[in-house]
Amino acid sequence: MNQQEMKELTGTGAVDALVKSGMKLGLGTGSTAIHVTRRIGSLVAAGKLSGIRAFATSFQTILECEKWGIPLYSLNAPELGGKLDLCIDGADEIDTENRLVKGGGGALLMEKIAAYASAAYAVVADETKLVEHLGLAFPVPVEVIPEARLPVRSELEKLGAEVILREAVRKAGPVITEHGNLLLDIRFKDKIDPVRLEAELNHIPGVVENGFFTRIRPTVFIGHAEGTLEIRR
Ligand code: 5RP
Repeated sequence: MNQQEMKELTGTGAVDALVKSGMKLGLGTGSTAIHVTRRIGSLVAAGKLSGIRAFATSFQTILECEKWGIPLYSLNAPELGGKLDLCIDGADEIDTENRLVKGGGGALLMEKIAAYASAAYAVVADETKLVEHLGLAFPVPVEVIPEARLPVRSELEKLGAEVILREAVRKAGPVITEHGNLLLDIRFKDKIDPVRLEAELNHIPGVVENGFFTRIRPTVFIGHAEGTLEIRR
């Protein structure tokens, strides 16, 4: 299987294993998570799934839900009441303890709010996302209030991070998140403690959120190139 096929395998497999009628669902962002939304949409359209109430973590996901007629709500709407039964999302890195780096698509803020508001959490990924240690290869995004760009940058450098302001593609200048902020992508040379860093980064004034997801351990659905779907709890 190529990577696209692995992404579809895992997105579809997770929905078939976990999603039931009547659930309050958090829907993630990215090229793997979109297969989750598509599968749910096709089951709703075929009348095989009903009563779904969804919260979308980005415009990308909102647009996909609109295509399929999946009912969307604010997390604060009475229909959701600030809580989800299940959130399914993609990831950029997954370590051996199912801790994650996320935010390659820049949607980390809503993705973390949804994940941490959910009774159950599942991640869909192809095998290329598995790593021994987080934060050494794929950059970890830190969402920052624009005015705090330089002070935050110097605090991150003090922690030993290499820092890059994320640049937009097909727009001049930096990426502006869906919440009007900037993204500083950080990478470390030596092994780090992701649990400690997830908390520590958010203590820097001006940091809104960071891409370490360590406080909720997901069930991970991994698509393999030989066409198998591994479920790691
Ligand atoms: C977006 C994310 C994505 O879930 C993550 O980047 C994985 O994306 P893809 O499935 O396209 O590789 O965190 O903010």
